[in-house]
Amino acid sequence: MSVPLLDLQRIHAPIEQELQAAFARVLNQNNYILGAEVTAFESACAEVLAVKHAIGVSSGSDALLLALMCIGIGPGDEVICPTYTFFATAGAIARLGATPVFVDLDPSNYNWKLEQVFAARTERTRAVIPVHLFGSCADMSELMPWAEKYGITVIEDAAQAIDASWREQPAGSIGHFGCFSFFPSKNLGGFGDGGLLTTQDDQLAEKARILRAHGAKPKYHHHFVGGNFRLDALQAALLHIKLQHLDSYTWQRQDCAARYRTLLAEKGLAHLAPEEMPGHVYNQFILRLACAEQRHQVQDKLTAAKIGTAIYYPIPLHLQACFSGLGYKPGDLPEAEAAAQTTLAIPIFPGLTEQEQDAVVSEIKQAILEN
Ligand SMILES: Cc1ncc(COP(=O)(O)O)c(C=O)c1O
Repeated sequence: MSVPLLDLQRIHAPIEQELQAAFARVLNQNNYILGAEVTAFESACAEVLAVKHAIGVSSGSDALLLALMCIGIGPGDEVICPTYTFFATAGAIARLGATPVFVDLDPSNYNWKLEQVFAARTERTRAVIPVHLFGSCADMSELMPWAEKYGITVIEDAAQAIDASWREQPAGSIGHFGCFSFFPSKNLGGFGDGGLLTTQDDQLAEKARILRAHGAKPKYHHHFVGGNFRLDALQAALLHIKLQHLDSYTWQRQDCAARYRTLLAEKGLAHLAPEEMPGHVYNQFILRLACAEQRHQVQDKLTAAKIGTAIYYPIPLHLQACFSGLGYKPGDLPEAEAAAQTTLAIPIFPGLTEQEQDAVVSEIKQAILEN
């Protein structure tokens, strides 16, 4: 039985008529960028995410960039972020001429180690970016008072964590900013690129809205040098439909994760599963293998059985060629380097069947027995 890593068709087929109707509506409106569709979607997001302001933008990467631009990050500034994350987290910092300062991960949940964040602070630290990796929130309880104390802006990278929560508070509603991605593989996936910036602060929201459209308000009156970070009306209309099903997408992912745990435990493989975390929304279900060779064997076996897998992420950011000028070397952030060698994502998405999960876990068991 072949099992894809992600099957968007299964998510979209049940709502096809609603999506077609939204598409037809936008086609008839003749208004394709921002406008009423985007405003309506933003209001719905603000309610779901418990934030005062939700600002539709062109991508999760641009949400991060916009957040940093709002607070004037630039050369000479340092921004602390995890090394084990998608590139965009650090790319946004570097694009503004600021310096990303990388910290290692906590192997129990792959999010950053808070004590390293605290230790990495210098006089130049202007912001920090906790990433809620794979759909599980980084610790916000200790971070926020520390950040307030030192006047540091907290930008939550919640690209993989829409609908996740930290102690009952939605991801993206706790820091000064929240950044979300609607990349198609995300838990609320669009039909192309899209993103969202959230904040509880009226002034930051106003500045973000202006920067989103080349810093102009009104049109052709430029207060700042912004960019084109606007969300399309079509994306907003289609995402608005899917937002109404987000609850169901979330619990289906959580159900799949619970079932994987049971199946792995039945086969004596409970130790491969990620630690259980309340509020986790499982954008990915990540196995932790014993060593690089075992990962290779398990991935090969699953590939041969036509079961999709992926490695998030094979090279931590502090070892990426584009950051070689920052002077990091192998061994500097050992937990992330070890995770990069041994983690493996297996299929998880709304609509994944029990039989498919059985097949995935059987193949994993066989791969481990054979080696
Ligand atoms: C952790 C993280 N941050 C940022 C992004 C960037 O989002 P986008 O692909 O929408 O630009 C992504 C997604 O790809 C991500 O996973």
